[in-house]
This record gives sequence, C-alpha cells and structure tokens, in this order.
Amino acid sequence: MPDEIAPAGTAARPDDVLGEILAGLGNRQKTLPAKLFYDEIGCELFNRITQLPEYYVTRAEVALLDLHADEIAARAPGANGAGGTALVEYGAADESKGVRLIDAASAPFRAYVPIDIAPSALDAIVRRMRTSHPDILLSPIAADFMQPLALPPGVATLPSMGFFPGSTIGNFRPQAVVGFLQLVRQTLSGGGEPCLVVGIDLRKDPSRLVPAYDDAAGVTAAFNRNILRHVNHLADGSFDPDSFVHRAIWNERDGRIEMHLQSPRSQTVRVGGRTIQFVAGETIHTEDSYKHTRDGFVALAATAGWRSDGFWTDPDGLFGMHLLRG
Ligand code: AVJ
Repeated sequence: MPDEIAPAGTAARPDDVLGEILAGLGNRQKTLPAKLFYDEIGCELFNRITQLPEYYVTRAEVALLDLHADEIAARAPGANGAGGTALVEYGAADESKGVRLIDAASAPFRAYVPIDIAPSALDAIVRRMRTSHPDILLSPIAADFMQPLALPPGVATLPSMGFFPGSTIGNFRPQAVVGFLQLVRQTLSGGGEPCLVVGIDLRKDPSRLVPAYDDAAGVTAAFNRNILRHVNHLADGSFDPDSFVHRAIWNERDGRIEMHLQSPRSQTVRVGGRTIQFVAGETIHTEDSYKHTRDGFVALAATAGWRSDGFWTDPDGLFGMHLLRG
C-alpha cells in the first residue's frame, strides 16, 4: 500500500463558495458560512483563541482526552483483531487530538485519515506525522465534509472509528447535525458497523459562555472580522473589516451562542459584482455555537440512526465526548 493516497472526496468548489456567500448576504438576516473563518490567518487566530483564559473549550477537551483516551481507543472497531483500524478525523485542523487516540495504550490504529477544508493544514499534518508516526498510513482528504465523501480505496474497507472533536458539530443547526451524521454513517460503513466519537461543548451558564466568545484581549473579535477579509479575497469584495463590531449573544431559546458582525452605520459593500446595503445597526450572522446537553445530543444522534454507546467528560464537567455506533 502506498504511504499516502491522493486526496479524494468532493472538495468545495470555489464557485459553490461564491454562491453561498451571495446567498447568505442576500438573506434578510445576512449570514456568512462559519467555515469561511478558516483561511490561514483565521486558523492562526483560532489557535490563539484556544489559549485564551476565557475559552475553556479546548483545554477541557484535551483534559478529557488525557484522562480517557485509552478507554475510548479501546472501544474502536477491530481493537481486538490484528487487522488494524482507520481513524477518520473530521475537521482535523491539526493532529494533536487524533494522536492522543492513536498513541493510546492498545489502540488499534494503522491508518489516519484527516479531513479538512484547509489544504495547508493537511500538508502540515502529513509533514509532521511522517516523522512522528512513520508506521501510520496517512491518507488526507481536502474536502468540505458537509458534502458526501468516499474514503480512498486503501482505507475504505478497514474497520474505522470516526472522530469529530473540537465541538465543531456545535456550528451546525440540529437539522444539519442529523444530515451530517447520516453522511458519516455512509462514509464509514465500508469496514463493518460504523463508530463515531464526537466531542461537544456542554450547556452551561451564559455568564461562562459569553466571555468565551467575547474575550478581553479581542482575539475572538479579530477572528470574527477576519471572515470579511477572507470574503474579500474569495469574492472580490470591498468589506472594511474595521467598520464592523464583534457581537457574541447567548440565544437561550435555541441553546446557542451567536456571533455577529454589526455595522454601526449604514454602508454599501460590493461583493462578487453585487451591491450589498447595510442599515445602521444591521448584522451579519457569522456563527452558531450550539451547546447541547448530553441527552439532547443523544436524541439528535438517534434521529440519524446512531445509538449512544459511551459518554465521557472532563473533570469539571464542561465538555462531553460521545461514542456512537450505527
Ligand atoms: C471551532 C466551532 C468549536 O464554536 O467554540 C471559537 C469556533 N468561534 N470562538 C466554537 C469559535 C469563536 C469554535 N469551534
């Protein structure tokens, strides 16, 4: 088997992205897709967010993995056989979490399939892991994982454990969670009963949540505004990021933090050949970050045909890791 298999699956086509941008900015409540945060600068800014005192999410998940990675990895399909298992990581901006499972005691992993929309992140993962994990087959996929995608032939028939850490699933509306979980079940079904480990931030008091998305140093504000720079680049836009104000709002009814960019004054912007008007105070809704209770998420997963077969939290009970089988 080759050491690396060429990226497969359906990468997001640039013209689709332009269509998404224009559709979002044409809505009455203007929106932009949260995946557009993650250009190279956005990835760097997100990395800084994970180190902020207010942003507990990443630290809590890492603490959870430090405690429970052995137990989670031991639940992977093929863990008792000799065949080897593929770890398929969705939204793998870096390998730090996946490696915690790969390196766990009695982990069965022979192949690592990081899936991310950012090819630069995948290149960096492959470069590092060729040295750090020379025995693991690396099979990166540059794709928008909201689209149907097929695993490369070399790994498609291995037993696999899907891994979706980082609470990225929190960005999806409930209906999109169900659609995504159905897609994952299809993608992972070539090697026996599908198995998926999902990390999600848990519901908690808004006094803890809001500062995590509106930090004192303004890093989250810079991250939010950077989406406009990225849109300028992708869609030949004329946004002045500094003319928008960062807002983070807890939406109690829907159980989610919303991020918005607010235009304090009326202004006109050109994007993709179109003219976009803002009235004073109008916002672009840039992100939802849903906070699911344990039972709420299990019920949602059941709608997509998955059953709960494990749940872990960090010592402070901030973050949850679900193991699903389907
Ligand atoms: C990467 C989607 C988990 O929702 O907490 C961080 C992104 N947005 N600060 C989150 C994010 C603002 C983050 N996720």
